[in-house]
Amino acid sequence: MERSLVELLAAKRDGAALEEGEIRRLVSSFNASELADYQMAAFLMAVFFRGLDDAETVALTEAMLHSGTVLDLGGVPGIKVDKHSTGGVGDKVSICLAPLVAACGVPVPMVSGRGLGHTGGTLDKLEAIPGFRTDLSVSDFARIVRDVGTCMIGQTKEIAPADKRIYALRDVTATVESIPLIVASILSKKLAEGIDGLVLDVKVGRGAFMKDEERARALADKLVRVGTRAGKKVVAILTRMDAPLGRAVGNANETREALDVLHGKGPEDLIECTLVLGAEMLVLGGRAESAADGTKKLRDAIASGAAARVMEKMIEAQGGDPKVVADPSRLSIAEQVVEVKAPRAGFVSGVDALAIGLAGVSMGAGRTRADQAVDPAVGIELDAKPGDAVGAGQVVARIFVRPGTDASPFRDRVAAAFTYSDAAPPASSLVVARVV
Ligand code: URA
Repeated sequence: MERSLVELLAAKRDGAALEEGEIRRLVSSFNASELADYQMAAFLMAVFFRGLDDAETVALTEAMLHSGTVLDLGGVPGIKVDKHSTGGVGDKVSICLAPLVAACGVPVPMVSGRGLGHTGGTLDKLEAIPGFRTDLSVSDFARIVRDVGTCMIGQTKEIAPADKRIYALRDVTATVESIPLIVASILSKKLAEGIDGLVLDVKVGRGAFMKDEERARALADKLVRVGTRAGKKVVAILTRMDAPLGRAVGNANETREALDVLHGKGPEDLIECTLVLGAEMLVLGGRAESAADGTKKLRDAIASGAAARVMEKMIEAQGGDPKVVADPSRLSIAEQVVEVKAPRAGFVSGVDALAIGLAGVSMGAGRTRADQAVDPAVGIELDAKPGDAVGAGQVVARIFVRPGTDASPFRDRVAAAFTYSDAAPPASSLVVARVV
């Protein structure tokens, strides 16, 4: 006999595994408002303490995925691969990665998010490009992926609507940090894009969602296992997020920096992160035999200008000004510049990504509530990064604010994010682990 919804809550509360059909029933009842918000909240708390095994997590992912539209990219030839980052500070990788991978022949359909809290969002950064639209219809999205090789839009209300409602409940019931709930949330949205493969950048460290390596690995392992069981090719790379990625933190300035990468310039850590993830995407997409082969192809696409051309086409197809690619200075940055100076000579031992991210939010580059607007022109530029030797009074960061703004509180916050040492700090590698 079929168990009642309340019996299912009790079973999970007591630590039992639910049948796949039972998980589906919970989600479909929630969608149909037969399961109340408080009952779903009770289920989420039971999951927080009791967990979900992989079969249950696949069932939850698929139930959330099918609560909305699954994009049909059947008309786009090739193995379609996307990348998802769990979020960090200065993480503008998607903006250079998508056109770069597409230039190597792997279609990249990308549905991205907005910044929330201390982490930035790809959509906000892209919208710093004059005219660029991220609210395209599903049919335009599919057409641009087919014609250009990549398209980057925002989550529509048709994509995994159950995730949106469940996430809102998690946010107010202290259940966001549950690994199976995070996995189902991320994968339900990504699988709705109609992809065949997914490369996950699981960030770990001060500025990441997962502060410690053990939990980041557990998240990466489960993302890969569940994504694979859901029929996709999935690889996860754990990367460090103690200091911001690259030098720019903001929106327009981050897009400029991502464009630099497409011109063979840009900071080393950003280039490395882009190449590592891109090489995995080319392997999953069948366009490279190995990561080394993938890296070479990516470098060639930068050197030949092919990646920059795809970026121009994508921007044009999405209503933006393609001239920003050849001339990133067309992206306007706030005119008032305030310098942050090293208080002593020595080495920069750390630049706290969380503190820099929060400083950016306080300046208006990010948001604390989902309905807030961001100011694309304000931002922070890091002139020194961990490991750099600095002299007393040397500029370590610059803050860009609107003229007339009192920037002293921002300057103090950014200055406080820097730590110094007498000896060079131990070098730490960006890539922590690869999980397959
Ligand atoms: N990102 C998501 O999309 N969902 C989560 O639950 C956590 C991070």
